[in-house]
Amino acid sequence: MNIEQKIIDSKNLKQETALAISECGHDRIFVLTDENTARQCWPVIRDFFSLRQARLIVTPAGDANKGLDAVVKVWHELEAGGATRHSCLINLGGGMVTDLGGFAASTYKRGIDFINMPTTLLAMVDAATGGKTGFNFGGLKNEIGVFSNARFVILNTDFLKTLDESNLRSGYAEMLKHALIDSEQTWAELLNFNLAEPDLEQLQTMLTKSVRIKQRIVKKDPKERDSRKALNLGHTIGHAIEEWSMEQVPGRQPLLHGYAVAYGLTGELYLSAIKTQFPTDRLCQTVSFIRSYYGVPPITCNDYPHILELMTHDKKNINGQINFTLLGNVGDIRINRTATEEEIKAALDFIREA
Ligand SMILES: NC(=O)c1ccc[n+]([C@@H]2O[C@H](COP(=O)([O-])OP(=O)(O)OC[C@H]3O[C@@H](n4cnc5c(N)ncnc54)[C@H](O)[C@@H]3O)[C@@H](O)[C@H]2O)c1
Ligand SMILES: [Zn+2]
Repeated sequence: MNIEQKIIDSKNLKQETALAISECGHDRIFVLTDENTARQCWPVIRDFFSLRQARLIVTPAGDANKGLDAVVKVWHELEAGGATRHSCLINLGGGMVTDLGGFAASTYKRGIDFINMPTTLLAMVDAATGGKTGFNFGGLKNEIGVFSNARFVILNTDFLKTLDESNLRSGYAEMLKHALIDSEQTWAELLNFNLAEPDLEQLQTMLTKSVRIKQRIVKKDPKERDSRKALNLGHTIGHAIEEWSMEQVPGRQPLLHGYAVAYGLTGELYLSAIKTQFPTDRLCQTVSFIRSYYGVPPITCNDYPHILELMTHDKKNINGQINFTLLGNVGDIRINRTATEEEIKAALDFIREA
């Protein structure tokens, strides 16, 4: 992968933006937003001196708009704005924008520099760091993409002031995952945080720590051959529940990614408890936090066969076996684990228990 990305724990957005831009050695600057971040976040930075000549590109919001058409539109706008190989793109938005803009920048004239300025907690803690970029294709999520690092990722929780509660909780689930694979101390800190009335300054400190945990893991195994699978905790069951929720069935509502991950964490910690001796007190504490902020998913036992089937089609599986990342304890990671159908059904029962 290209040069290492610098993660900035932002204290002064104006200065850090200027610094990142100057280090990118650009001729022209472009800023990509979606319709919402154009309204909510662009005004926060548009008067910065370093952005006085920046050209704004606005794309429709939402993961459903993260397709090839949107990529083509960004390429066109770069072209129309006179972008060269030395231009720089700032992605100002959630994971949709950082995925799309990261991909468009990495392929435009064989790759121009880009800076991620994530504006959702999910993008801050996950999508904007780690070098995965791409778009949805042929009905499949993130089907086309490249591993490519942003030169800078500027983390500033001030952007979260306009973010709704559900999207904040969604991002927090990924922080919870990082804490579980890291250490007892980080985990305890997260469970003690008041997510109902979040203190954004405290969240900034916790977030920076959380991103470092991800970075440490990604650095060891950037292409997910082995140890990066630690980051899949909660995602085997989580992805299946997320996909299930997205199916067009009357009365079904799509879940935000982090909510599905929170339920996935509950199920996979249960599997960890029965298969790899994850301590039951840690299980209960984590699950009671999750239930209080995320509730339980609207699945019934009639949905189990279908959810299991979705799991058997997971990209992460090896030799047709459903692949789990489990824990022996907080911070004790056990990758490449399997579970029987009965055990998975018991985990789904456990997720549904209020
Ligand atoms: N590359 C990776 O490693 C990775 C990891 C996780 C997720 N993703 C991708 O990220 C996307 C999901 O990210 P997301 O949850 O950030 O979704 P998103 O980018 O769609 O943002 C969610 C909503 O919040 C709005 N928004 C963003 N910032 C705001 C702010 N500060 N104030 C008010 N509204 C704001 C957006 O316009 C959107 O409507 C998906 O496309 C997913 O595939 C990628
Ligand atoms: Zn995730």
